[in-house]
Amino acid sequence: MSTQPDPARGAAVKAADRAHVFHSWSAQGLIDPLAVAGAEGSYFWDYDGNRYLDFSSQLVNTNIGHQHPKVVAAIQEQAARLCTIAPGFAVDVRSEAARLVAERTPGDLDKIFFTNGGAEAVENAVRMARLHTGRPKVLSAYRSYHGATAAAINLTGDPRRWASDTGSAGVIHFWAPFLYRSPFHAESEEQECERALRHLEDTIAFEGPATIAAILLETVPGTAGIMVPPPGYLPGVRALCDRYGIVLVLDEVMAGFGRTGRWFAADHFGVTPDLLTFAKGVNSGYVPLGGVAISAEIAATFETRPYPGGLTYSGHPLACASAVATIDAMAEEGIVENAARIGEDVLGPGLRELAERHPSVGEVRGLGAFWAVELVRDRATREPLVPYAATGEANAPMAAFTAACKAAGLWPFVNMNRTHAVPPCTVTASEAKEGLAALDEALTVADRYTV
Ligand SMILES: Cc1ncc(COP(=O)(O)O)c(C=O)c1O
Repeated sequence: MSTQPDPARGAAVKAADRAHVFHSWSAQGLIDPLAVAGAEGSYFWDYDGNRYLDFSSQLVNTNIGHQHPKVVAAIQEQAARLCTIAPGFAVDVRSEAARLVAERTPGDLDKIFFTNGGAEAVENAVRMARLHTGRPKVLSAYRSYHGATAAAINLTGDPRRWASDTGSAGVIHFWAPFLYRSPFHAESEEQECERALRHLEDTIAFEGPATIAAILLETVPGTAGIMVPPPGYLPGVRALCDRYGIVLVLDEVMAGFGRTGRWFAADHFGVTPDLLTFAKGVNSGYVPLGGVAISAEIAATFETRPYPGGLTYSGHPLACASAVATIDAMAEEGIVENAARIGEDVLGPGLRELAERHPSVGEVRGLGAFWAVELVRDRATREPLVPYAATGEANAPMAAFTAACKAAGLWPFVNMNRTHAVPPCTVTASEAKEGLAALDEALTVADRYTV
């Protein structure tokens, strides 16, 4: 499957990149981007003959793996038929993509507003909630990520917000449950759940319920650490929203479309939000696409009153065609069920077994194809392997761990003191085991930094 190595071509690609491409989230002079020659299924490769098992699904978006033939064909067919059309028209692939998404989202989330990605989905969900309620504030959690545009970055609860923390009028952060590093000094899931709900209700009371438009939560926080909430937490948040007339927005940009072993992570908890944001897995990012699934009640607000928001490429035909093919292929090939099975049979047990042998592993948690491995210097105190938001020398242990993964043929997802095992939902048992073996090797490097 890999193409023939071609180091000269790789060097040219890299040189043009370094000369002209301005990269996200980076000091431009300090990065060394890998030149990628191709990808298929769970793997991608460079021009030097190195192949990597993609345990990051890129940015946790290639749920269906790279170059799925049915999705590639759908994009090609749509390109030949109708590449683009303005959002104001009704067009077959857009109608069908909206129908397929609405059919799978929980409850009465039956209207779909399409965007180009996750941040725009969050921007629009917040706008809808504010207009629907006539209230200004939005509550979101620390340890979260919601995107890099104006409202989305202010709602984010990680260090990426700090540089943009200027326009955050109406944004209030609170602590969501995370037993391993409990903000509430809890000792059990039940305590954590109960105290987190009390903290949220106190926050609502002190902010003034009548000023709060929405509570925005990742159903299972992703980049911030895959903290699966205790069973009663999200139903408890739903009840608080109902009590105070607050819109519940669940951000499923990362957790949605099979990642957790269900179509949506909300399905694990029996909770229906008023708005649900999605992107990434909806079409595995083959063409940029995101959106907001909207409840009947909020849709009714905009039945005779115009919705003041739009995008030139809302519901782009190439993106929608790839979403239709992705959702159909996921259903036909049992890809969501595969993610659930791999999580239960291979990734969960395999990562727990690594935790037993490696002193650098503090905790393993997750579900489906969505797992976090928390790396620590000291298991007893739970001191993280690197400090929160560490850079440069302070981050050396994680840099060494990352390099060891790559040397073992695994492309890891790494954030702060964690690595996430987030392969495509199509990953086979033998690929998942190959990934676990590479992590085993790399963890011996992390172990060297333990006390
Ligand atoms: C939960 C969540 N919300 C929103 C976003 C932003 O999506 P995008 O990068 O497509 O704008 C992300 C991206 O990682 C995400 O994980």
